Amino acid sequence: MAVLVTGGAGFIGSHTCVELQNAGYDVVVLDNLSNSSEKSLERVAKITGKEVKFYKGDILDRDILQKIFDNEKIDSCIHFAGLKAVGESVKKPWEYYNNNITGTLTLVDVMRKNGCKNIIFSSSSTVYGTPEKVPVTEKTPKGTCTNPYGWTKSMLEQILSDIQFADPEWNVILLRYFNPIGAHKSGTMGEDPNGIPNNLMPYITQVAVGKLPELGVFGDDYDTPDGTGVRDYIHVVDLAVGHVKALKKIEEKAGLKIYNLGTGVGYSVLDIVKNFEEATGVKIPYSIKPRRDGDIAENYADASLAKEELGWVAENGIKEMCEDSWRWQKNNPNGYN
Ligand code: NAD
Ligand code: UFG
Repeated sequence: MAVLVTGGAGFIGSHTCVELQNAGYDVVVLDNLSNSSEKSLERVAKITGKEVKFYKGDILDRDILQKIFDNEKIDSCIHFAGLKAVGESVKKPWEYYNNNITGTLTLVDVMRKNGCKNIIFSSSSTVYGTPEKVPVTEKTPKGTCTNPYGWTKSMLEQILSDIQFADPEWNVILLRYFNPIGAHKSGTMGEDPNGIPNNLMPYITQVAVGKLPELGVFGDDYDTPDGTGVRDYIHVVDLAVGHVKALKKIEEKAGLKIYNLGTGVGYSVLDIVKNFEEATGVKIPYSIKPRRDGDIAENYADASLAKEELGWVAENGIKEMCEDSWRWQKNNPNGYN
């Protein structure tokens, strides 16, 4: 039996393919490569010594989905495929709702028609909106999202929960990721954003490698210890391992489960700059800029439920996250190109 990994050529998906193959799973990837390169899957093969079965195609395309179910023995799906740029989603809401929501509805429909009712979904801490208190647990009420991307995650959580409620044969695990950074230790796989990065760590590594002149720190007047935004950064390999643990839970007939995947530790933007400089010896010039629209002051996870029920904890600290992000960027200044 095999696991269908949608979006498996992307940042989190490719690292998850490594951990799945290392754990002995057969992996089938479906990705339209709209935000990734097939080269990531070559690197997965190099690391694990096993080719990844790859279908280039779209989750909106029923025919290719059916072809996969005809050709492969799929018994569960880890669903990463989706558009994820927050700012772009404000400008292109139709594209985001169509790709992420219609795409997931199409995927789930083909799955159930083929008797496959096990899914792990990539959700996000963004569903908490602006939390009243941190750390957030899975019981913290969901909040108001500040952009269409966030709403696709929040709505898809509801849609998948309703589908599981109506048909308890479904096993649905919603994983709420905090802020994934870091890269595979080999330095051969990592995050490869298109154009100027939106997220903090790829921006910092591109400053470090000389592609960008300086970091803009978005606001230093938040109600946080140093005034800059606080987040829960998690190593992408720890996140990937969390998916393998979630898959084991699915095999025990999980029903509907929701887990935060974070470290439980919040770091400010300036903490990250300082830790990056210490871990790599590279200076990061920065200047303070106005707050970015839609940003919140602070969010970090209480991830104790994942520890209790999945036996999962994040192993890597901030030093490893900075070292590994830097090794990838330094060895691959132009990403997979
Ligand atoms: P990514 O862009 O690197 O990976 C997503 C992959 O999905 C890409 O390879 C892209 O080509 C593919 N894809 C997009 N639309 C598709 C479609 N219609 N059909 C087939 N393939 C399609 O992003 P990532 O950082 O690896 O994120 C993976 C998932 O985790 C996404 O759903 C994202 O929203 C979610 N997530 C990411 C973060 C983060 O900060 N990186 C945080 C929380 C949640
Ligand atoms: N930041 C800067 N300068 C930059 C980029 C970011 O100061 O150039 C700051 C932000 O203001 C924020 C922190 O760094 O305080 C982290 O910002 P990111 O853009 O890296 O991450 P976010 O927390 O804004 O959001 C990310 C993803 C979302 C996801 C969320 C939770 O972009 O899709 O993590 O998983 F929902």
